[in-house]
Amino acid sequence: MKKAIISGVTGQDGSYLSEFLIAKGYEVHGLMRRSSVFNTERIDHLTNSYEKNEIFNLHYADLTDTSSLRNIIQKVEPDEFYNLGAMSHVGVSFLTAESVLNINSLGAYRVLDILREISPRCKYYQASSSEMFGASPPPQNENTAFMPQSPYGISKVAAFHTTKYFRNANKMFASNGILFNHESPRRGLNFVTRKITYNAAKIIAGLEKKIYLGNLDTRRDWGFAGDYVKAMWMILQHNSPDDFVISTGGNNSIKDFLEKVFSLLNLDWQKYVEANTPRYMRKTEVESLQGDSSKAKKILGWEPDHSFDDLCKMMLESDLKKFNISFDQAQEIAKKLK
Ligand code: NAP
Ligand code: GDD
Repeated sequence: MKKAIISGVTGQDGSYLSEFLIAKGYEVHGLMRRSSVFNTERIDHLTNSYEKNEIFNLHYADLTDTSSLRNIIQKVEPDEFYNLGAMSHVGVSFLTAESVLNINSLGAYRVLDILREISPRCKYYQASSSEMFGASPPPQNENTAFMPQSPYGISKVAAFHTTKYFRNANKMFASNGILFNHESPRRGLNFVTRKITYNAAKIIAGLEKKIYLGNLDTRRDWGFAGDYVKAMWMILQHNSPDDFVISTGGNNSIKDFLEKVFSLLNLDWQKYVEANTPRYMRKTEVESLQGDSSKAKKILGWEPDHSFDDLCKMMLESDLKKFNISFDQAQEIAKKLK
């Protein structure tokens, strides 16, 4: 039985990757940091089903705390380490840049250096990001220059190069997945897609009147997180370490996302959205991301299974359910809102 450690197990991707690896027969060890409230909602179903068989195990560790990382790597002796832990919110990174660099950049360095010393045959996956491309115009692929536009982007560029450095200097199996935006019903509520679907559901439930957003003109390549965690695993199963762009090739604006979600309810989004809200505007923006993942398709055989339209519907339906409203009921309620 292969053993995998996942940092960031309580996050969106950590939860999908845990499910995926358990289904593949792995023993999964998730790293979580202490929180003042319970934040294991995305993985509680796994703990309930698999903790007693030691298939799914949780450990306290922090990417800023070398000894906690060392102790767990020593104890588990993993075959694969997926470094998904990060302060992942670009907007917040402008306000907490130093800790972002500590968690996202030095965190990757700490893990790789411990692996080099005590578990050098362990394969390492680094959660790199399309945010690293920043101001480089689309389409972006593995040869596109990094021009990060945020402390988050800078931190991920540093971790990307750290991963390549350990691969080249220490002959470790260390790979980067350069993933474009991926979303799901488990997406954090302060990312724009989930903020829109959750608040649209609240509007239908009569609990909200407006959604306050920032810049609606930026464009993203949005995929489904479930498809993307499969790519992470495929990257580590390849016969040699390498770097891969993972994306759908789509390019939609925030306005397009609003249009799609509200049109599923036959509502005009413009009546429910306040744009350019100062607190959600960023000092510098990444205007347009559109990935070219032909390398991953050719070498790994990876392709996404879900479209932009699938994603919008899946997220809206899931958020309506949170208010005990079915999709059909939502359309009936929406008629009365007109
Ligand atoms: P997420 O939902 O925000 O999850 C981030 C995880 O990192 C959470 O479990 C969080 O724990 C953990 N974490 C934060 N600080 C930590 C620390 N100091 N020590 C240990 N763990 C820490 O993010 P995601 O969407 O799943 O993304 C997973 C990874 O992929 C991240 O590295 C992200 O930057 C990267 N990425 C994401 C996307 C995307 O579109 N989703 C695209 C490209 C790259 P708490 O629950 O305690 O906060
Ligand atoms: N979060 C947020 N909230 N974003 C808003 C809002 C709002 O109210 N209004 C407009 N936006 C715009 C942002 O300015 C940005 O241009 C775009 O919506 C997407 O923002 P996010 O959903 O926060 O995602 P992101 O693209 O900045 O970052 C995500 O994708 C990266 C990959 O490119 C995160 O998941 C990163 O961790 C990831 O690396």
